Amino acid sequence: MNELTWVEVSKGAIRNNIRCFREIIGKGKILCPCVKANAYGHGLVETAEVFLDSGADWLAVNAIYEARSLRKNGVDAPIYVLGYVPLDSLEEALRLDCRLVVYNKETVEKLGVIAEKLGKIAKVHLKAETGNNRQGLAEENLLELAKFIKTFKNIEIEGLSTHFANIEDMTDHSYAEVQLAKFVSAINLLEENGINIPIKHCANSAAILLFPETHFQMVRPGIAAYGMWPSNETYLSYARKKSLKENLSDMDALIRPLTTPLSPFCLSDIMTDMTEG
Ligand SMILES: Cc1ncc(COP(=O)(O)O)c(C=O)c1O
Repeated sequence: MNELTWVEVSKGAIRNNIRCFREIIGKGKILCPCVKANAYGHGLVETAEVFLDSGADWLAVNAIYEARSLRKNGVDAPIYVLGYVPLDSLEEALRLDCRLVVYNKETVEKLGVIAEKLGKIAKVHLKAETGNNRQGLAEENLLELAKFIKTFKNIEIEGLSTHFANIEDMTDHSYAEVQLAKFVSAINLLEENGINIPIKHCANSAAILLFPETHFQMVRPGIAAYGMWPSNETYLSYARKKSLKENLSDMDALIRPLTTPLSPFCLSDIMTDMTEG
C-alpha cells in the first residue's frame, strides 16, 4: 500500500458474517473460519481476533508459519492446519498445539515419535479423497491408515475431512453430491471397523450456504467469512433454494451481484436483502 491506495476493512461487517454463519449452522457445531493467506488479505492476527470475538471456535490456516504467528500474538484457540506439514515442521506443529491433516504413513510415524518425546497427544484429521484430487486417501487406504494410527498411543484421530472440488463453480451440484456420498461412505466404513471419528467436516462457504447436510460437526468457511459470495452460481443457487424464483428471474439473479452496489459489503446484509426479496 502507498498513500494513493489503501484498504479499509469493516470489523463490524466481519463480525456480522461470523454471526450469520453461527445462525446458519446452529449451536454445538464448530465454526472454523479460514485465516490462511493473511486472512484472505485482511490481516492474519487482526482478523483472527475479530473472528474469535464474534463466535468462531477454531481457526484454519494453511501452513505452520501462520500458526506460529497466531500463537506469538496470543491466540490460544484451536488451530487446524489445512495444508501439508513437512516432516521437519512436525515438532513445531505439535509444540504450537496444531491439529494436523494426515494422509500418509511417514507423517504418522514421525508424529508418533515426536508426540511421545514431547509427552503430548497429537490430534490428527484424516483426509478422504472424494474427487478433489489434491490431498487424501480413497476408502480402502483410509481404513488402512486409520488402523495404523491406532497403533500409536500418542496420536488421536480427532477428525475426518474432505474438500469439494467445484461446489461454487456450478449450479448443477451433482459432482458435489457424489463427493458427499463418498465422504459418507468413508465415514461408514471407518465406523463399521470400530474407528470413531468425533469431528467430520467438509463444508466450505458454498457448501455451508447451500447444503445443511454438509455441516456435520464442523464447517470451514473461507471467502464468505469475508463477505463475498463464492460465485454468482452460489448466489443463484441460494436464491433458488430460498424460493425467490417468483421475484427474481434467473437473469436478474445472475447480474445482480455485479450491478448492485453494496456498502459495507457484508454477507448478512445480502442474505437479509435476499430473503426479503
Ligand atoms: C480445505 C479447505 N477448506 C475450506 C476452504 C475455504 O473455502 P472457501 O473460501 O470456498 O469457503 C478452503 C479454501 O481453499 C480449503 O482449501
